[in-house]
Amino acid sequence: MARVAYVNGRFVPHARAVIHIEDRGYQLADGVYEVWSVFDGRLADAAGHFRRLARSLGELRIAAPMSDRALKILLAEVVRRNRVTDGLVYLQVTRGVASRDHAFPDPPVAPGIVISAKNVDHAAAQARAAKGVAVVTQPETRWARCDIKTVALLPNVLAKQAAREAGAAEAWFVDDLGLITEGASSNAWIVDRDGALRTRDIQANILRGVTRHALFSIAAANGLTLEERPFTVEEAKSAREAFITGAGTLVMPVVRVDGQALGDGSPGPVAKRLRELYIEAARRPDAPES
Ligand SMILES: Cc1ncc(COP(=O)(O)O)c(C=O)c1O
Repeated sequence: MARVAYVNGRFVPHARAVIHIEDRGYQLADGVYEVWSVFDGRLADAAGHFRRLARSLGELRIAAPMSDRALKILLAEVVRRNRVTDGLVYLQVTRGVASRDHAFPDPPVAPGIVISAKNVDHAAAQARAAKGVAVVTQPETRWARCDIKTVALLPNVLAKQAAREAGAAEAWFVDDLGLITEGASSNAWIVDRDGALRTRDIQANILRGVTRHALFSIAAANGLTLEERPFTVEEAKSAREAFITGAGTLVMPVVRVDGQALGDGSPGPVAKRLRELYIEAARRPDAPES
């Protein structure tokens, strides 16, 4: 089946979906994005992603391309046209097309919008989760506004490539204090020696992960202690467990940090259970769109 994308007001074949050469997202990384996971054809944690999109756009003073209501209908339509059952939807909004100049176009131009969707191989992802993944640490080289989900991802690209070349699935950024901030495309977590879940606080320079936030209520409902508190590379290496969260990875157990096995080198029970609980919640027909 041919894939379909939505580009600036039109549904077009994915293979022929194009934007203008002076789209500011392309020339200046002047744009934001969101990724929703899809379960049984429905967006997971929809409202959380909409809230973050509005915040990212607001922080960059990019106009919303349409109301959330209209956007929701469009996202659902892209999911439907691509027959996505379990997968991902990608949305990108840029400041629009204008003659190249760093400052904002004056008068403003209409924002650019692109939506695409694809199925993911859920069985393959489950198999990956059953084995767990490796992460490697990388120096934090990003700008000071990682709370904004911009398409300016070059440090993340380089870190992810370094991970790939080291045989790892994710890179964890380490700041000047030796503390892990987050992954190149996920939030970082450990289960510390006291059994508490730990992930970096949002006062730090990290993306406020929607999956991360969804786990807070799941953890509370299951009697787990959760602390938004930084951890060092050494603490990660000696942790009981580690995992990453994101719309792409959901909850993915980490079994090696910089080549060092955690515990017996297999996924920990807490990470495994949280993955199950997250997927169960996302698949529930009455799942709240928080
Ligand atoms: C840098 C970074 N941190 C964290 C996340 C996880 O965010 P979410 O759970 O909202 O997908 C992502 C996801 O793309 C990311 O790129």
